[in-house]
Amino acid sequence: MAEVTLEGLRKNYGNVAAVKGLDLVIKDQEFVVLLGPSGCGKTTTLRCITGLESPTGGRILFDGKDVTQQKPAERNVAMVFQFFALYPHLKARKIITFPLRARKASKKHIREKVEWVAEMFKLHHLLDRYVGGMPPGDKQKIALARAVVRDPNVLLLDEPLSALDEQYREEMRWQLGHIQKQLKVTTVYVTHDQREAMSLADRIILMRDGRIEQQAPPDEIYRRPANVFAAYFIGSPGMNLFPVTLEDRDLLLGKESRRLPIPEEIISKLAVTERREFVMGIRPEFLSIAGKEAGEGESCFPATIFSTEQVGNYKIFNFRVDDEIYHGMVRRKGVLEGEGMVCFDMAQARFFNKESGEAIF
Ligand SMILES: Nc1ncnc2c1ncn2[C@@H]1O[C@H](COP(=O)(O)OP(=O)(O)O)[C@@H](O)[C@H]1O
Ligand SMILES: [Mg+2]
Repeated sequence: MAEVTLEGLRKNYGNVAAVKGLDLVIKDQEFVVLLGPSGCGKTTTLRCITGLESPTGGRILFDGKDVTQQKPAERNVAMVFQFFALYPHLKARKIITFPLRARKASKKHIREKVEWVAEMFKLHHLLDRYVGGMPPGDKQKIALARAVVRDPNVLLLDEPLSALDEQYREEMRWQLGHIQKQLKVTTVYVTHDQREAMSLADRIILMRDGRIEQQAPPDEIYRRPANVFAAYFIGSPGMNLFPVTLEDRDLLLGKESRRLPIPEEIISKLAVTERREFVMGIRPEFLSIAGKEAGEGESCFPATIFSTEQVGNYKIFNFRVDDEIYHGMVRRKGVLEGEGMVCFDMAQARFFNKESGEAIF
C-alpha cells in the first residue's frame, strides 16, 4: 500500500503535450477516479505512474520516495487495461499465479493466495478452465485477480469495464468497489464515464486537456462544480447553463431577455461582483413546471416544452431559450408538452464568471 504523489507531472509526445503539469496526492488506500473526455491525458498519467512512460517533467513519489526513474517492476504496481491480453491457451489458475511464481513464492503461499482471490472474486469455478473460451466479463475478472494477487502498492485500472456489456458492467462495477474496500489498496481508476466515476470514487479527479479541472468527492463535485466544464460534464443530463444579465435589480435570461424574478439575496450577491453578465447553472432536478399562473415571487418564466421523455421514475422535459436546449427533471407523470411556466429552485443555482467559467458562488 502506498500514498502516491504527482508533482508537476508533464508528458509530451513530440509536439503533443498530453499531460501539462499535474499536482495530485492520492492517499493510502484511497479509490481515486481520473475522469475526463477522450484524449485528456488519463491513460498517459496512469502509464507514468506505472513507469511504462518516462515523464517529460515533474516527479512521482510513493510514500514520499521518488520513484520517477524506477522501472515498472521495481514499483510493484499492477495495471489492468480495457482489453485483456490474457493467454487463451492457459488455464485461469496458471495466469493468476504467474506473478507469484515469477517471484518464486512458496507453494503454500501460492495456494493460500489463489484461494483468497478466488473467494474475493467468486471465481472458483473458473480456475481450471482455459481463458480462451470465457466471456469478456470473466476474462476481466481473471485479469483483476492476477493484478491483485501479489499485493501491489498501487492498483491502476484503465477503463477496465468499458468493453463489457451494460448489465455485466453494472455488476462488475459494484463488485469492484466492494473488493477495493476489502483489499485496502490505493487505486487509480480511469474512465470517461461520469456515472462510473460517481459510483466508484472516493474522490474524482476531473481532467481536461492535460490538466485537472477539479478534484473532489462525487457529491461535492456534483453539488458544487468549480467551473462550467465540471458543471456540464458531471450529471446526466448535465447542469443547465444559462447566460444571464443583471439589470438593476432584475435578472434577464438569454438574448431574448426573459425576465426571471429571483430572491433579493442573490441579486445582492451578484451586485457586489460589479459584473453584469454571468452564467447561471442549475441541475435539471431543481427545475419544475407550473401552471400559467405561477405564484407571485417564484422564479418562473414562460417557456414551450417541446418534448418529454420518461427515464425510470422521472420525466425529463426539454425547452429552449434562444437556440439552446435545456432540461428539467420531475418526479411525476403527466407532464405535457406545450406552453407553460418553468420554475427554478434558486437556492440550488450556481453562478459562474462568464469569461473564465470559474464558479463565483
Ligand atoms: N504514444 C503516443 N504518441 C503520441 N501521442 C500520444 C501517445 N499517447 C497519447 N498521445 C496523445 O496524448 C493525448 C492524451 O492521450 P491519452 O493519455 O491516451 O488520453 P485519454 O486516456 O484521456 O483518452 C492525446 O492527444 C493523444 O493523442
Ligand atoms: Mg485512455
